[in-house]
Amino acid sequence: MSALGTDSMKDDKKMAADGGFEPNIVGFLCNWCSYAGADLAGTSRMQYPPNVKIIRVPCSGRVNPLFILKCLMDGADGVLISGCHIGDCHYSEGNYYARRRFAVLKNFLEYIGIDPRRFQMSWVSAAEGDKWAKVVKEVVEDIRNAGPNTISAEKK
Ligand code: FES
Repeated sequence: MSALGTDSMKDDKKMAADGGFEPNIVGFLCNWCSYAGADLAGTSRMQYPPNVKIIRVPCSGRVNPLFILKCLMDGADGVLISGCHIGDCHYSEGNYYARRRFAVLKNFLEYIGIDPRRFQMSWVSAAEGDKWAKVVKEVVEDIRNAGPNTISAEKK
């Protein structure tokens, strides 16, 4: 298993009962806001697709852009970063750094030929379980439309 736990994704391309494509998405969620928001969605029994595998991080600013590239190279169909709203980061500036860093990464992904829909960001607070459910539905739909990730197959 890789450090990010994405090895299993290489062989884990799920197909829905109707034969449609079900994307594997890695979600990096900051502990203080988005993770709590996702938890609230779960405890409130909100319905949303189960495609996002969550990795809890202390802050969105902790996510190294190489984590995203590693996930995509190891077969994830998409990556979602979610953190506190701008101005609400528990470490003051972490999400400012994340926002700037990942705006550049999104352009870079497009430049190297990776569909930018495969990498998405959102800001979800601990009180926004409904927003988390909405974000996941939208991201899953976007990545489903982008189709399966073929980067790991091309890497071989
Ligand atoms: S602590 Fe949530 S984004 Fe920094």
